Amino acid sequence: MKKYTEMTKEELRKEQEKLAAQFEAYKNTGLKLNISRGVPCEQQLELSMGMMDVLHSEADYMSENGQDTRSYGSLTGLPEAKALMAEVMETRPENVIIFCDSSLNIMYDLISKSFTHGVMGSTPWYKLDKVKFLCVVPGYDRHFAITEYFGIEMVNIPMLDDGPDMDLVEEYVNNDAAVKGIWCVPKYSNPTGTVYSDEVVERFSKLTPAAPDFRIYWDNAYNVHHLDFNHMHVIPEILTLCREQGRPDMVYKFGSFSKISFSGSSIAALATSPANVADVTSQMKIQTIGHNKINQLRHVRFFKNAQYVMMHMAKHAAILKPKFDLVKMILNRDLAELGIADWSEPDGGYFVSFNTLPGLAKKVVGMMKDAGVNMTPAGATFPYGIDPEDRNIRIAPSYASPSDLDTAIQLFTVCVRLCSTEKLLNESN
Ligand SMILES: Cc1ncc(COP(=O)(O)O)c(C=O)c1O
Repeated sequence: MKKYTEMTKEELRKEQEKLAAQFEAYKNTGLKLNISRGVPCEQQLELSMGMMDVLHSEADYMSENGQDTRSYGSLTGLPEAKALMAEVMETRPENVIIFCDSSLNIMYDLISKSFTHGVMGSTPWYKLDKVKFLCVVPGYDRHFAITEYFGIEMVNIPMLDDGPDMDLVEEYVNNDAAVKGIWCVPKYSNPTGTVYSDEVVERFSKLTPAAPDFRIYWDNAYNVHHLDFNHMHVIPEILTLCREQGRPDMVYKFGSFSKISFSGSSIAALATSPANVADVTSQMKIQTIGHNKINQLRHVRFFKNAQYVMMHMAKHAAILKPKFDLVKMILNRDLAELGIADWSEPDGGYFVSFNTLPGLAKKVVGMMKDAGVNMTPAGATFPYGIDPEDRNIRIAPSYASPSDLDTAIQLFTVCVRLCSTEKLLNESN
């Protein structure tokens, strides 16, 4: 097939007519599909049902530290839960605080605390004229929602093939004391699937922030979420590198079992320096007497260790990979030769990041909605919901069944092609 940009007006018009008819046909089938959020499908949730059997009315509820998990205590988490989390997060148990069931909640609380009480004795952010966060784009909408909620000024940092544009990151962090943080998803990034290169991670550890209370929000949500276990990515461990550089306190690293066991009902953790652990704990002890230790124990009894977690994640991959392969196959088949789009082909995580021609993302997502398929709103992958070029669309293949996904992505390529022919015809007038 010819590139759309090389087609004559007549050829483009014919193509447009054909695609418009296809779109109408889809619209008339009354679809009701959802590829908007990175939610595990039911089959994935079933993988962890054994966790419901490891604790029962006859079970032993004592932790290895003598803590009765049914009662108060162990503020920062059970030792065995910290050991499991530390292994999965590639750090030491003493660096880990186990929270409840959402890493996003930890991030929100840390920013909230920084506003009201400051970071390790520094000026609380509410007293400052301006607080800025760097946001790697396209990125995770819920990160941006937190910083927007607190009125933090968000600065876009482009995601390059090997991670954020580090020249820009260094320029901001090392010179602007209003920059207090950066949102990072270092492995299988949401939504681009990018894996930060060794050099990028190293450059992060060598930052010399103008603000002493600057922290890297290192959200390693997809650390073990490989799609192909013969092709697993490993990145350098950021806490270790920062410690070696003499800046051990610069990172808050986050981990979660949300997409390992049960989304929203799992365990989540912060891994950070001992000084940060003490700082965070000083606030946490006011907020709670302790988190859900029964759930921590359930996770430890079921998952045992990182090796078992990896075996479990391979089962997730067996469900997810065919869905990602299907998306890749359809996008390549229907779009690769036309010169009107590009997209990511991730080795892990939950998303495919798709770029239309400039100015079409909102229109494509709107058409999908008209035809009964819900996608992440266009713009959501940028701070304030504003994609300056209106190009980026996040595809979340995990939740839909393979046949629904097949239909949704085929329709998607029809919408992309139709919008592109219209744009090119308009521009040629
Ligand atoms: C990068 C990233 N971080 C955090 C989360 C949410 O994690 P949790 O369920 O632990 O709050 C998600 C969920 O999609 C995510 O993509």
